[in-house]
Amino acid sequence: MPLNAATEAARLSTAPMMDWTDRHCRYLHRLMSRHALLYTEMVTAPAVLHGDRDRLLSYDDAEHPVALQLGGSDPGELAQATRIASAYGYDEINLNVGCPSDRVQSGCFGAVLMERPALVADCVAAMIAESPVEVTVKCRIGVDDQVPEQVLPDFLETIGRAGVCRVTIHARKAWLQGLSPKENRDVPPLDYPLVHRMKRAFPDMHLSINGGITSLDAAQEQLGAGLDGVMIGRAAYHTPCDILLDADRRIFGDASPSRTAEDVVLAMLPYIEAHLSAGGRLNQITRHMLGLFAGRPGARGWRRTLSEGAHLDGAGPALVEAALGDVIARAA
Ligand SMILES: Cc1cc2nc3c(=O)[nH]c(=O)nc-3n(C[C@H](O)[C@H](O)[C@H](O)COP(=O)(O)O)c2cc1C
Repeated sequence: MPLNAATEAARLSTAPMMDWTDRHCRYLHRLMSRHALLYTEMVTAPAVLHGDRDRLLSYDDAEHPVALQLGGSDPGELAQATRIASAYGYDEINLNVGCPSDRVQSGCFGAVLMERPALVADCVAAMIAESPVEVTVKCRIGVDDQVPEQVLPDFLETIGRAGVCRVTIHARKAWLQGLSPKENRDVPPLDYPLVHRMKRAFPDMHLSINGGITSLDAAQEQLGAGLDGVMIGRAAYHTPCDILLDADRRIFGDASPSRTAEDVVLAMLPYIEAHLSAGGRLNQITRHMLGLFAGRPGARGWRRTLSEGAHLDGAGPALVEAALGDVIARAA
């Protein structure tokens, strides 16, 4: 995979989402789009240094292009984590400057780093020195009472000088006091025009927009208006067919035939078998497949069969095939 593969793929990416975009989810998403860039869940630098590295960092080769998101605020730790992670062959390493959770705030990383651009610059410089692939940043437009129009250009300028050329901006503030992480994804208002102004102010920086984009039409609109990339989180997870099945053709201009949801289920079966043979459980994979038929006849039955059956001892591919058979029968 050439070094710039992630940059090309960043035209459309799926967002890093803790507990959601694990390796099974990414394998599923890759079956739906050959080109989109897939982000891991955030892995903290201390976890990489002291935790079970293979469990945290290994993934299936089929997932490329795949970007690892790291969390942290200690340049030395991030440098070491980057060096360790590099051996796993990720296509990009991303620093999380957007996550508002309490746990993250208490370690002084995530969105609170919007207040410390010089520290972020030190972090990314240390990561770049250890990384064979591009180091990128995912940030917010500001936190709390910061004035985004002032702090965001300063932030981009500062990390740009440290060597960052590609940034994803979640186009809303994080309010670090009083809102839960979930509320922080919906309550602070979105400001797309500000992100577009940043693109005009930093024409050489690759800027992706994130937050509240729920369709390929909306993604195409953002790209048409001059942004370099669009990152989609919740919609890609809950309605993956709407976002990913047509993405190669519409976003990447690749006219080769795309899979249907039914094809995707069948293509997951060998992966499921391998996971079970290695001692895994069915629901670790099928929990990411619940939205495959969203909006179609039989969607509720599909979800119910998998939710009720996949955690039971002995559950395997036969359950998935039976659930698929029911969906096909409903559609006939
Ligand atoms: C369950 C969940 C977990 C998330 N975990 C992370 C994370 O680990 N790192 C991060 O930068 N953002 C995380 N986010 C935020 C998303 O990456 C994204 O910025 C946000 O959901 C807004 O995009 P959307 O409106 O397309 O979902 C998470 C979001 C959700 C829903």
